[in-house]
Amino acid sequence: MSEPIGQMLEEALEAVRSAENLNDLAAVETRYLGRNKGFNELKRTIGSMPQAERPAFGAKINEAANTLSEAAAERKATLEEIDLGLRLAKETIDVTLPGRALPAGRLHPLTQTSERIKTVLSGMGFEFVDGPELEDYAYNFAALNYPEDHPAMDEQNSFFVNDSQLLRTQTTALQGRIMAERRPPFRIATIGRCFRYEAVDATHHHTFHQVDVFMVDEKISMADLKGTLGSFARQMFGPETLVRFRPDFFPFVEPGVDYSINWRGRWLELGGAGMIHPNILRAYGINPDKYSGFAFGLGIERTHMIQTGVNDLRLYLENDLRFLKQY
Ligand code: FA5
Repeated sequence: MSEPIGQMLEEALEAVRSAENLNDLAAVETRYLGRNKGFNELKRTIGSMPQAERPAFGAKINEAANTLSEAAAERKATLEEIDLGLRLAKETIDVTLPGRALPAGRLHPLTQTSERIKTVLSGMGFEFVDGPELEDYAYNFAALNYPEDHPAMDEQNSFFVNDSQLLRTQTTALQGRIMAERRPPFRIATIGRCFRYEAVDATHHHTFHQVDVFMVDEKISMADLKGTLGSFARQMFGPETLVRFRPDFFPFVEPGVDYSINWRGRWLELGGAGMIHPNILRAYGINPDKYSGFAFGLGIERTHMIQTGVNDLRLYLENDLRFLKQY
């Protein structure tokens, strides 16, 4: 091999051997095999040679260039393998490490309370039925024996959406819907959101939840109401819980009461109750001389507040995890 070709090949092979990565190697290939570079540059000197030496010189250059290409290809394969090894080592997953714990979700405290109420009342034979949140004025008030412009309606300031529909102010609105469809005997309970146009404070919200419970059958009396409420209260608040009735007025019950439970030495009001007004039974074609019924309702927020000591019901709607995580 003539001197310059041999020297260039030696130099190039050394550069290939010492290329530490694919970029270095590509640079070596460009330097010696690129257009107008390295061996190709050498080829251009052919023109100045005597005619007889030209073919042999050209063949030698080609041979050297091929040798270099082969060496570069080999080095490339080696570098690629090293590269892959490094990448695999870097990306190795240690399957023995403990996984990252996913934060476990939980039920909202009001859902938990509702579920508990459902379990208790279902156990006492009450069937749960849902009513609409957007309610007819007729079911929310008129069917419940509220005379036109009765002041009792002022206690439940409402969000009307038009002249005949409003966001229900009480789950008691389901009573008329049930009596329009069913004949006694029935035992119904319903849980849901209610809305009142209230000044919001620690014990009143514009959006809250109620449960309403009512049954109609022959010979239902205040004793059944008191027995049912007493059993409900003991299952919700503990076996020693007592229930106290005091007279109260709701247009849809006669007599009407509010009831309290004794809780840690104090009487706490829970909701309203009473015997379903005969006018309502009559309005739905149920004979009040044969059938009678009781009804009671209470707030879900209030129930949870009594059980846990939460003192501001606004917390239930704020979705602050620091609060919700405690229950
Ligand atoms: C009623 O809504 C009657 N429908 C209850 C009833 C049913 C009486 C069946 C007779 C027979 P009252 O307005 O008192 O009654 O509400 C009942 C409970 O709902 C209250 O004790 C309270 O716990 C809850 N409540 C009422 N208004 C709000 C409010 N703005 N924010 C939070 N809770 C409320």
